[in-house]
Order: sequence, then structure tokens, then C-alpha cells
Amino acid sequence: MSAAATSVDERFARCLPKIELHAHLTGSISRECLHDIWETQKGQAPAFDVEDPLIAIPSDKVDYDLETFFPLFSSYIYKLCSDLPSIEYSTRAVLQDFQVDGVVYLELRTTPRAIRENGITKDDYVRTVLNILSAWNSNAANTLRAYLILSVDRRNTIAQAEEVVDLCIKYQSAGVVGIDLCGDPAKGDVRIFTDTFARAKAAGLNMTLHFAEAKVSASDMELETLLSWMPNRLGHVIHVKEEYCKIIEQENIGVELCLSCNVHARMITGTYSDHHFGTWRHTNVPVALSTDDVGVFCSPLSNEYELAAQHFDLSRTEIRKLCVSAIESIFTGEDEKTRLRSIYAEWDGWTA
Ligand code: IMP
Ligand code: ZN
Repeated sequence: MSAAATSVDERFARCLPKIELHAHLTGSISRECLHDIWETQKGQAPAFDVEDPLIAIPSDKVDYDLETFFPLFSSYIYKLCSDLPSIEYSTRAVLQDFQVDGVVYLELRTTPRAIRENGITKDDYVRTVLNILSAWNSNAANTLRAYLILSVDRRNTIAQAEEVVDLCIKYQSAGVVGIDLCGDPAKGDVRIFTDTFARAKAAGLNMTLHFAEAKVSASDMELETLLSWMPNRLGHVIHVKEEYCKIIEQENIGVELCLSCNVHARMITGTYSDHHFGTWRHTNVPVALSTDDVGVFCSPLSNEYELAAQHFDLSRTEIRKLCVSAIESIFTGEDEKTRLRSIYAEWDGWTA
């Protein structure tokens, strides 16, 4: 076998069929797509008072940290994507970008958003996104299949979180496969959502939670509360003590790890080679490398695989093991698991 056929290089990582389990819809919109939306808005209303994304989010800027990251959405991107055509256009573009990068299975998550000035309810928002996903999935030419997770924001009131659960339940048969807890880790008290997440679980929804992504959201109280909800997967899993790591392993909870996001946002100390992927990959829990917000951090999933391989010296066999293990933690049923297992079994790129 030639050297080229064993290395995990850019071409291999791009062609590799990939599973993306932690991607926020609005954070996955590319700057070019945001620019297209801005041009359209400007064309329709020349007085539209929002800065061009190519200026507001310079193409080489990826060093958003926890202080600058969340306002980027609340004070900028949400103002741009504020009508149904923009939401439809950007959702389609996000699916296309993942597919072009070789993603074959995507669980996209989004926070239901009401846009009062345009008469859009949270229900309208979710239905609009689901319609795009459904049209996408029914097009046989597409190699990517996409499903939706709805997010509760840490800043939500109990009533707002309950509304998210209602929407999850209402649209469960239309492509909503789970519920998430996300948002600024410095905000909120997760204990108020305990009954709400219990209701989601009782309704048969899968659950993923942003877990210990910052020191401020990694108190024993918070982590014990989140683990008591019996999540199926956890995102980030950064500031976690040994005793909680053991529980995650015992319960076989899948972990969604986002290398570039954690490095660029300085959520971990050090760089790629210091990332806790290095520890989790030696456990038996399913590990899903994920992008989190590819529109902001500009590292597509293929690049995440390449980075993991480079910094942790992964062979193609180890990459294969990683991908196959992630199948176990997806939120859809046996049909998708079977499809994904056969994609990996039949892929001719392992030795090409
Ligand atoms: P949306 O939910 O589709 O609107 O995607 C953007 C939203 O996802 C942001 O406003 C945040 O609330 C959330 N988000 C994106 N990345 C992160 C993260 O790394 N941690 C917590 N929340 C996040
Ligand atoms: Zn996230």
C-alpha cells in the first residue's frame, strides 16, 4: 500500500463520509451566505441599517470568545436573518455546505425564535426550518440526511422552555429528534429546567446538553443536575472532574467534541494537542467530532477530522473506529444506523 493510501490528509478527510451531531443552525451560516442575505435585504429596503457581514465579520476573524460570541448572534446575525425567506435560504445553504464537505448525516440544532416585527412565531420558525429539511431529505440526489434538535436557551424562562418542549413534541413526527440546552454558559440557573427536561424525556425525545463548556457552568451543582436528567449525549465536556467523567463512561453517554471552536474561543488551555479529545478517544463512549459553529470558526467537519488525525496521530483505521462509534449515539432510529453502517462498510476510500 502506498503512503498516500494510509495517511489522513485533506482529500481523505473531505471524502470521508461524516456524521455531524453538534451544529447550531444560525452559527453554521457562512459569511458568504450572510452577505447574500444582506444584499437581498438591502435591495428590498435601501435603508436597512445592518452592516455588511463581510465587514462586520471579517473573513480571517475566528477568535470569538465567550464574551464576544453570543452578542454576535443577538445583536447582529439575528437582525440579518429576520424573515422567512432568509431563514429558508440560509437553512438550504447550510445543508448544502455540509453535504459538499462530505457529511452524510446531520443533526442540526436551533433555538426556536419569534420575530415579532415580522409577525413570525416560534412555531412558524420551526415549521419553516423543518420544511426545508424535509424537502432536502426527500430529494434522492442528496447524500446528506438531516434532522432537527430544538434548543432551550439558558436565559429562557420556564414558560419559554416549556414552549420548546411543546414544539419538540408537536413536530416529533416531522423530523425533530431531540432537545438541547445551549446559550451563554455564564447565564441562568439550569435547576429551573429540571421538570421541563423530564417532560421532554417522558415524551420520548432524546437529549443533548452543553456540559461544562466554561468554568462558570461547571459547578458540582450544575453538573449533577444535568446528569440527573439522564442525557443521551453531552456537548463540549471540558471542565469535568474525574468522578463525572466516570459517570459519563458508566452511562455510556456520547460526547460531542469541537476542537477548533474550543481552541479559537480559548475554552481550553493550550492548543489542539491539549484537547480532551485525547482522553475521550481512549474510552468506550461514542465520540462525535463536531463543528459547533462552522460559520463563525470556519473549520468544516473535514478539517476537524484532519486536525484530530494530525495532532493525535490517528490512522485511517482509528478514524474508521471513531466514525462507526458515533453511529451509536445518533438520535434517529435503526434505519439511519443501518444506512450509516453500510456507508462505512462499503466506502472504498479507506485504502484508496
Ligand atoms: P441558533 O440556535 O440556530 O439560532 O444558533 C445560534 C445560537 O446557538 C446562539 O445564539 C447560541 O445561543 C447557541 N450557541 C451556539 N454555539 C454555542 C456554544 O458553543 N455554546 C452554547 N450555545 C451556543
Ligand atoms: Zn454548541
